[in-house]
Amino acid sequence: MAASLKNAWKKYILHFAHDHLEKNPFLEIELPSNNAASQIMSRLVLGKSIYELWGKASCVDDLLLKLKSSNINNPCSSSDTSFKIDVECFNRTQTMEQKIERIQLKFNGRVNLSKPQHKFSLLEFYEYDSVNPKEAPQQVYFGRWVRSNTSMDPTLSLLMATMGQVKANDLVFDPFVGSGGWTLGIVRTFWGICKPSRKGQKWRFRDETILNNLRQYNLEKHYVDAFVADFTSYKLWCTDQPRFDAIITDPPYGVREPSQKLGKHKQSKSQQDKETAETSAANCYPTKTSYHLTNMLLDLLDFAARTLTLGGRLVFWMPIVRDIYVPENIPHHPCLKLVSNSEQIFFIRVSRRLITMEKVTEFNVRRILT
Ligand SMILES: C[S@@+](CC[C@H](N)C(=O)[O-])C[C@H]1O[C@@H](n2cnc3c(N)ncnc32)[C@H](O)[C@@H]1O
Repeated sequence: MAASLKNAWKKYILHFAHDHLEKNPFLEIELPSNNAASQIMSRLVLGKSIYELWGKASCVDDLLLKLKSSNINNPCSSSDTSFKIDVECFNRTQTMEQKIERIQLKFNGRVNLSKPQHKFSLLEFYEYDSVNPKEAPQQVYFGRWVRSNTSMDPTLSLLMATMGQVKANDLVFDPFVGSGGWTLGIVRTFWGICKPSRKGQKWRFRDETILNNLRQYNLEKHYVDAFVADFTSYKLWCTDQPRFDAIITDPPYGVREPSQKLGKHKQSKSQQDKETAETSAANCYPTKTSYHLTNMLLDLLDFAARTLTLGGRLVFWMPIVRDIYVPENIPHHPCLKLVSNSEQIFFIRVSRRLITMEKVTEFNVRRILT
Protein backbone atom coordinates (compact mmCIF):
# COMPACT_ATOMS: atom_id res chain seq x y z
CA MET A 1 0.00 0.00 0.00
CA ALA A 2 2.75 2.41 1.07
CA ALA A 3 4.71 1.50 -2.07
CA SER A 4 1.74 2.16 -4.37
CA LEU A 5 1.11 5.52 -2.67
CA LYS A 6 4.77 6.40 -3.10
CA ASN A 7 4.53 5.50 -6.80
CA ALA A 8 1.78 8.07 -7.19
CA TRP A 9 4.13 10.84 -6.08
CA LYS A 10 5.28 13.24 -8.76
CA LYS A 11 8.54 15.06 -9.31
CA TYR A 12 8.67 18.80 -8.69
CA ILE A 13 11.36 21.38 -9.14
CA LEU A 14 11.72 23.92 -6.36
CA HIS A 15 13.36 27.23 -7.31
CA PHE A 16 15.07 28.79 -4.29
CA ALA A 17 15.38 32.57 -4.09
CA HIS A 18 19.07 32.58 -3.25
CA ASP A 19 21.97 34.56 -4.70
CA HIS A 20 24.80 32.08 -4.02
CA LEU A 21 26.24 31.92 -7.49
CA GLU A 22 28.08 28.64 -6.90
CA LYS A 23 24.95 26.73 -5.84
CA ASN A 24 22.25 25.36 -8.10
CA PRO A 25 19.02 27.09 -6.95
CA PHE A 26 16.83 24.33 -8.48
CA LEU A 27 16.07 21.39 -6.18
CA GLU A 28 14.29 18.26 -7.36
CA ILE A 29 11.78 16.86 -4.86
CA GLU A 30 8.89 14.36 -4.86
CA LEU A 31 5.44 15.25 -3.59
CA PRO A 32 2.00 13.59 -3.64
CA SER A 33 0.12 16.45 -5.37
CA ASN A 34 0.09 20.04 -6.62
CA ASN A 35 -1.91 20.88 -3.52
CA ALA A 36 0.93 19.64 -1.31
CA ALA A 37 3.41 21.65 -3.42
CA SER A 38 1.31 24.76 -2.95
CA GLN A 39 1.02 24.19 0.81
CA ILE A 40 4.78 23.80 1.17
CA MET A 41 5.32 27.04 -0.76
CA SER A 42 2.91 28.90 1.51
CA ARG A 43 5.31 28.22 4.43
CA LEU A 44 8.63 28.20 2.58
CA VAL A 45 10.11 31.62 3.13
CA LEU A 46 13.01 31.16 0.70
CA GLY A 47 11.08 29.33 -2.01
CA LYS A 48 10.61 31.43 -5.16
CA SER A 49 8.53 29.10 -7.35
CA ILE A 50 7.59 25.45 -7.65
CA TYR A 51 6.98 23.53 -10.89
CA GLU A 52 5.72 20.09 -11.79
CA LEU A 53 8.87 18.61 -13.35
CA TRP A 54 8.30 17.38 -16.92
CA GLY A 55 11.91 16.73 -17.83
CA LYS A 56 15.56 17.46 -17.12
CA ALA A 57 18.80 17.03 -19.05
CA SER A 58 22.28 18.44 -19.35
CA CYS A 59 21.47 20.46 -22.47
CA VAL A 60 18.40 22.01 -24.07
CA ASP A 61 18.46 19.73 -27.18
CA ASP A 62 18.38 16.57 -25.04
CA LEU A 63 15.63 18.06 -22.90
CA LEU A 64 13.48 18.83 -25.95
CA LEU A 65 13.98 15.29 -27.28
CA LYS A 66 12.93 13.84 -23.93
CA LEU A 67 9.86 16.06 -23.76
CA LYS A 68 8.78 15.11 -27.29
CA SER A 69 9.01 11.39 -26.53
CA SER A 70 7.42 11.56 -23.06
CA ASN A 71 3.78 10.66 -22.46
CA ILE A 72 2.96 13.51 -20.08
CA ASN A 73 -0.67 14.50 -20.04
CA ASN A 74 -0.26 17.94 -21.64
CA PRO A 75 -3.11 20.33 -20.76
CA CYS A 76 -2.16 22.39 -23.83
CA SER A 77 -2.81 19.62 -26.35
CA SER A 78 -6.09 21.18 -27.49
CA SER A 79 -6.32 24.42 -29.46
CA ASP A 80 -8.81 26.08 -27.09
CA THR A 81 -6.22 26.39 -24.30
CA SER A 82 -3.69 29.18 -23.83
CA PHE A 83 -0.17 29.01 -22.46
CA LYS A 84 3.09 30.86 -21.89
CA ILE A 85 6.67 29.60 -21.54
CA ASP A 86 9.27 31.56 -19.53
CA VAL A 87 13.01 31.01 -19.67
CA GLU A 88 14.96 31.50 -16.40
CA CYS A 89 18.75 31.34 -16.49
CA PHE A 90 20.85 31.30 -13.32
CA ASN A 91 24.41 32.74 -13.71
CA ARG A 92 23.77 33.77 -17.30
CA THR A 93 21.75 36.42 -19.10
CA GLN A 94 20.01 35.71 -22.41
CA THR A 95 18.44 38.15 -24.85
CA MET A 96 14.75 37.75 -25.66
CA GLU A 97 15.71 36.36 -29.10
CA GLN A 98 18.00 33.75 -27.51
CA LYS A 99 15.22 32.77 -25.12
CA ILE A 100 12.64 32.38 -27.88
CA GLU A 101 15.10 30.33 -29.93
CA ARG A 102 15.40 27.84 -27.07
CA ILE A 103 11.70 27.13 -26.73
CA GLN A 104 11.18 24.87 -29.73
CA LEU A 105 8.12 23.12 -28.31
CA LYS A 106 4.98 22.62 -30.36
CA PHE A 107 1.91 22.98 -28.16
CA ASN A 108 -1.51 23.06 -29.80
CA GLY A 109 -2.82 25.82 -27.53
CA ARG A 110 -2.55 29.57 -28.19
CA VAL A 111 0.28 31.68 -26.78
CA ASN A 112 -1.02 34.26 -24.30
CA LEU A 113 1.69 36.17 -22.45
CA SER A 114 -0.55 38.24 -20.17
CA LYS A 115 -3.28 35.83 -19.01
CA PRO A 116 -2.34 32.27 -19.94
CA GLN A 117 -4.31 29.32 -18.60
CA HIS A 118 -1.11 27.32 -18.19
CA LYS A 119 2.41 28.57 -17.43
CA PHE A 120 5.61 26.65 -18.11
CA SER A 121 9.27 27.42 -17.50
CA LEU A 122 12.55 26.35 -19.00
CA LEU A 123 15.06 26.62 -16.14
CA GLU A 124 18.79 26.67 -16.85
CA PHE A 125 21.62 26.45 -14.33
CA TYR A 126 25.07 27.59 -15.51
CA GLU A 127 28.13 26.80 -13.43
CA TYR A 128 29.54 30.02 -11.95
CA ASP A 129 32.69 31.43 -13.53
CA SER A 130 33.30 35.15 -12.98
CA VAL A 131 36.12 35.32 -15.58
CA ASN A 132 34.79 33.21 -18.45
CA PRO A 133 31.03 32.80 -18.08
CA LYS A 134 30.00 29.33 -19.28
CA GLU A 135 28.40 29.08 -22.71
CA ALA A 136 26.49 25.87 -22.01
CA PRO A 137 24.29 25.12 -19.01
CA GLN A 138 25.18 22.39 -16.55
CA GLN A 139 21.56 21.35 -15.98
CA VAL A 140 18.26 22.30 -17.62
CA TYR A 141 14.71 21.59 -16.46
CA PHE A 142 11.26 22.03 -17.95
CA GLY A 143 8.24 22.27 -15.70
CA ARG A 144 4.66 23.35 -15.39
CA TRP A 145 4.27 26.24 -12.97
CA VAL A 146 2.35 25.50 -9.77
CA ARG A 147 2.96 28.46 -7.48
CA SER A 148 5.31 31.39 -6.79
CA ASN A 149 5.91 33.32 -3.61
CA THR A 150 5.87 37.04 -3.04
CA SER A 151 8.79 39.30 -3.95
CA MET A 152 12.00 39.02 -1.96
CA ASP A 153 11.84 42.02 0.38
CA PRO A 154 8.66 41.18 2.32
CA THR A 155 9.84 37.58 2.30
CA LEU A 156 13.03 38.63 4.06
CA SER A 157 11.05 39.94 7.02
CA LEU A 158 9.47 36.48 7.37
CA LEU A 159 12.94 34.97 7.26
CA MET A 160 14.05 37.35 10.02
CA ALA A 161 11.03 36.39 12.14
CA THR A 162 11.81 32.70 11.57
CA MET A 163 15.44 33.21 12.60
CA GLY A 164 14.21 35.08 15.69
CA GLN A 165 12.07 32.01 16.58
CA VAL A 166 9.15 34.33 17.28
CA LYS A 167 6.18 32.54 18.88
CA ALA A 168 2.61 33.56 19.66
CA ASN A 169 2.45 36.30 22.33
CA ASP A 170 6.18 37.05 22.18
CA LEU A 171 7.19 40.67 22.66
CA VAL A 172 9.33 41.70 19.69
CA PHE A 173 11.21 44.97 19.41
CA ASP A 174 12.63 46.82 16.38
CA PRO A 175 14.91 49.70 17.47
CA PHE A 176 15.14 51.06 13.88
CA VAL A 177 11.55 50.54 12.84
CA GLY A 178 11.34 53.33 10.23
CA SER A 179 7.94 53.21 8.53
CA GLY A 180 7.27 49.73 9.92
CA GLY A 181 7.16 48.02 6.51
CA TRP A 182 9.21 45.03 7.67
CA THR A 183 7.34 44.87 10.92
CA LEU A 184 4.16 44.21 9.00
CA GLY A 185 5.71 41.10 7.46
CA ILE A 186 6.74 39.85 10.88
CA VAL A 187 3.36 40.53 12.49
CA ARG A 188 1.44 38.82 9.70
CA THR A 189 2.88 35.51 10.73
CA PHE A 190 3.69 36.09 14.34
CA TRP A 191 2.50 38.14 17.26
CA GLY A 192 3.43 40.95 19.62
CA ILE A 193 5.37 43.99 18.56
CA CYS A 194 6.86 47.10 20.06
CA LYS A 195 8.94 49.59 18.14
CA PRO A 196 10.48 53.04 18.43
CA SER A 197 12.19 55.16 15.86
CA ARG A 198 14.04 58.40 15.75
CA LYS A 199 13.27 62.08 15.49
CA GLY A 200 12.91 63.56 12.03
CA GLN A 201 10.45 61.14 10.39
CA LYS A 202 8.28 62.90 7.81
CA TRP A 203 4.55 62.45 7.23
CA ARG A 204 2.76 62.75 3.92
CA PHE A 205 -0.61 62.24 5.66
CA ARG A 206 -1.34 62.56 9.37
CA ASP A 207 -3.00 59.11 9.46
CA GLU A 208 0.07 57.49 7.86
CA THR A 209 1.13 55.48 10.90
CA ILE A 210 2.39 52.00 11.68
CA LEU A 211 -0.84 51.29 13.58
CA ASN A 212 -2.95 52.28 10.56
CA ASN A 213 -0.79 50.05 8.37
CA LEU A 214 -1.56 47.13 10.67
CA ARG A 215 -5.28 48.05 10.72
CA GLN A 216 -5.48 47.53 6.96
CA TYR A 217 -4.60 43.87 7.56
CA ASN A 218 -6.68 43.48 10.77
CA LEU A 219 -3.47 43.04 12.72
CA GLU A 220 -3.75 45.98 15.10
CA LYS A 221 -4.35 43.70 18.10
CA HIS A 222 -0.68 42.70 17.85
CA TYR A 223 0.51 46.28 18.18
CA VAL A 224 2.00 47.31 21.53
CA ASP A 225 3.49 50.74 20.93
CA ALA A 226 5.88 52.87 18.91
CA PHE A 227 7.78 55.96 19.90
CA VAL A 228 10.12 58.44 18.28
CA ALA A 229 13.54 58.30 19.89
CA ASP A 230 17.24 58.15 19.25
CA PHE A 231 18.29 54.54 19.84
CA THR A 232 21.59 55.71 21.31
CA SER A 233 19.85 57.54 24.18
CA TYR A 234 20.53 54.91 26.78
CA LYS A 235 18.66 56.86 29.45
CA LEU A 236 15.49 55.63 27.73
CA TRP A 237 16.24 52.14 28.99
CA CYS A 238 16.48 52.80 32.70
CA THR A 239 16.50 49.16 33.80
CA ASP A 240 18.50 46.11 32.74
CA GLN A 241 15.55 43.82 33.51
CA PRO A 242 15.18 41.60 30.41
CA ARG A 243 11.88 42.12 28.64
CA PHE A 244 12.02 41.36 24.90
CA ASP A 245 11.65 37.83 23.51
CA ALA A 246 13.32 38.92 20.28
CA ILE A 247 14.96 42.01 18.79
CA ILE A 248 14.64 41.98 15.01
CA THR A 249 15.94 44.94 13.08
CA ASP A 250 17.34 46.40 9.88
CA PRO A 251 19.75 49.07 11.15
CA PRO A 252 20.64 52.10 9.01
CA TYR A 253 24.00 51.44 7.41
CA GLY A 254 24.48 54.51 5.34
CA VAL A 255 23.57 53.21 1.86
CA ARG A 256 19.97 54.43 1.66
CA GLU A 257 19.49 55.49 5.29
CA PRO A 258 22.25 57.55 6.92
CA SER A 259 23.31 56.30 10.36
CA GLN A 260 22.87 59.22 12.68
CA LYS A 261 22.43 59.95 16.35
CA LEU A 262 21.56 63.04 18.27
CA GLY A 263 24.61 65.11 19.17
CA LYS A 264 26.69 68.15 18.44
CA HIS A 265 29.03 68.82 15.54
CA LYS A 266 32.34 70.51 16.38
CA GLN A 267 31.62 74.24 16.45
CA SER A 268 33.36 77.57 16.72
CA LYS A 269 32.72 79.78 19.79
CA SER A 270 30.43 82.15 17.83
CA GLN A 271 28.39 79.20 16.50
CA GLN A 272 28.03 77.88 20.07
CA ASP A 273 26.77 81.26 21.33
CA LYS A 274 24.29 81.42 18.46
CA GLU A 275 23.07 77.89 19.20
CA THR A 276 22.62 78.62 22.92
CA ALA A 277 20.28 81.44 21.96
CA GLU A 278 18.40 79.20 19.52
CA THR A 279 18.05 76.24 21.88
CA SER A 280 16.17 78.41 24.32
CA ALA A 281 13.44 78.74 21.70
CA ALA A 282 10.43 76.51 22.38
CA ASN A 283 10.56 74.62 19.07
CA CYS A 284 14.09 73.32 19.16
CA TYR A 285 15.18 70.11 17.41
CA PRO A 286 18.52 68.61 18.40
CA THR A 287 21.19 68.32 15.73
CA LYS A 288 22.39 64.97 14.44
CA THR A 289 25.92 63.66 14.10
CA SER A 290 27.09 60.66 12.11
CA TYR A 291 27.03 57.33 13.87
CA HIS A 292 29.73 54.88 12.89
CA LEU A 293 28.48 51.43 11.87
CA THR A 294 30.81 49.59 14.27
CA ASN A 295 29.65 51.69 17.22
CA MET A 296 26.03 51.22 16.24
CA LEU A 297 26.40 47.42 16.06
CA LEU A 298 28.26 47.31 19.38
CA ASP A 299 25.47 49.40 20.95
CA LEU A 300 22.91 47.03 19.45
CA LEU A 301 24.64 43.96 20.90
CA ASP A 302 25.01 45.61 24.29
CA PHE A 303 21.34 46.59 24.24
CA ALA A 304 20.30 43.04 23.27
CA ALA A 305 22.48 41.51 26.01
CA ARG A 306 20.75 43.71 28.58
CA THR A 307 17.15 43.55 27.43
CA LEU A 308 16.58 40.10 25.87
CA THR A 309 15.12 37.29 27.91
CA LEU A 310 17.48 34.32 28.33
CA GLY A 311 17.25 32.28 25.09
CA GLY A 312 15.86 35.33 23.25
CA ARG A 313 17.31 36.17 19.85
CA LEU A 314 18.82 39.21 18.17
CA VAL A 315 18.45 39.23 14.36
CA PHE A 316 19.96 42.01 12.27
CA TRP A 317 21.51 42.84 8.88
CA MET A 318 25.13 43.88 8.55
CA PRO A 319 26.65 45.27 5.30
CA ILE A 320 30.04 43.97 4.18
CA VAL A 321 32.60 44.44 1.41
CA ARG A 322 33.03 40.89 0.12
CA ASP A 323 36.74 41.16 -0.82
CA ILE A 324 37.84 42.04 2.69
CA TYR A 325 35.19 40.28 4.78
CA VAL A 326 36.34 37.72 7.35
CA PRO A 327 34.00 36.08 9.90
CA GLU A 328 35.91 37.89 12.67
CA ASN A 329 34.25 41.12 11.43
CA ILE A 330 31.01 40.02 13.08
CA PRO A 331 30.76 41.87 16.41
CA HIS A 332 30.54 39.72 19.52
CA HIS A 333 29.39 39.96 23.11
CA PRO A 334 30.01 37.54 26.01
CA CYS A 335 26.26 37.14 26.64
CA LEU A 336 25.39 36.36 23.00
CA LYS A 337 26.15 33.26 20.94
CA LEU A 338 26.27 33.48 17.13
CA VAL A 339 23.78 30.94 15.76
CA SER A 340 23.64 31.88 12.10
CA ASN A 341 25.42 34.09 9.57
CA SER A 342 24.09 34.04 6.00
CA GLU A 343 24.77 36.24 3.03
CA GLN A 344 22.54 38.17 0.63
CA ILE A 345 24.65 39.32 -2.32
CA PHE A 346 23.88 42.77 -3.76
CA PHE A 347 26.78 43.14 -6.20
CA ILE A 348 30.01 41.21 -6.83
CA ARG A 349 31.78 43.19 -4.09
CA VAL A 350 28.98 44.24 -1.76
CA SER A 351 26.57 42.15 0.24
CA ARG A 352 24.86 42.08 3.59
CA ARG A 353 24.75 39.33 6.17
CA LEU A 354 21.80 38.27 8.24
CA ILE A 355 23.21 37.70 11.71
CA THR A 356 21.32 35.75 14.37
CA MET A 357 22.52 35.66 17.98
CA GLU A 358 21.02 34.03 21.04
CA LYS A 359 21.32 35.28 24.60
CA VAL A 360 23.03 32.48 26.52
CA THR A 361 24.11 34.23 29.75
CA GLU A 362 22.50 36.82 31.96
CA PHE A 363 23.97 40.29 31.59
CA ASN A 364 26.45 41.16 34.30
CA VAL A 365 28.41 44.43 34.15
CA ARG A 366 31.32 43.00 36.17
CA ARG A 367 31.77 40.12 33.73
CA ILE A 368 31.74 42.52 30.76
CA LEU A 369 34.43 44.72 32.30
CA THR A 370 36.81 41.90 33.27
C1 LIG B 1 17.20 50.61 7.13
S1 LIG B 1 15.94 51.61 7.79
C2 LIG B 1 14.79 50.45 8.44
C3 LIG B 1 13.55 50.50 7.65
C4 LIG B 1 12.42 49.74 8.30
N1 LIG B 1 12.75 48.34 8.41
C5 LIG B 1 11.11 49.93 7.51
O1 LIG B 1 10.46 48.93 7.15
O2 LIG B 1 10.75 51.09 7.27
C6 LIG B 1 16.68 52.23 9.27
C7 LIG B 1 15.80 53.21 10.02
O3 LIG B 1 16.51 53.62 11.21
C8 LIG B 1 16.28 55.00 11.42
N2 LIG B 1 17.41 55.52 12.24
C9 LIG B 1 18.62 56.02 11.84
N3 LIG B 1 19.37 56.37 12.92
C10 LIG B 1 18.62 56.10 14.03
C11 LIG B 1 18.82 56.25 15.45
N4 LIG B 1 19.96 56.78 15.94
N5 LIG B 1 17.83 55.85 16.30
C12 LIG B 1 16.67 55.30 15.82
N6 LIG B 1 16.40 55.14 14.49
C13 LIG B 1 17.37 55.54 13.60
C14 LIG B 1 16.22 55.58 10.01
O4 LIG B 1 15.50 56.79 10.00
C15 LIG B 1 15.46 54.47 9.25
O5 LIG B 1 14.08 54.70 9.31
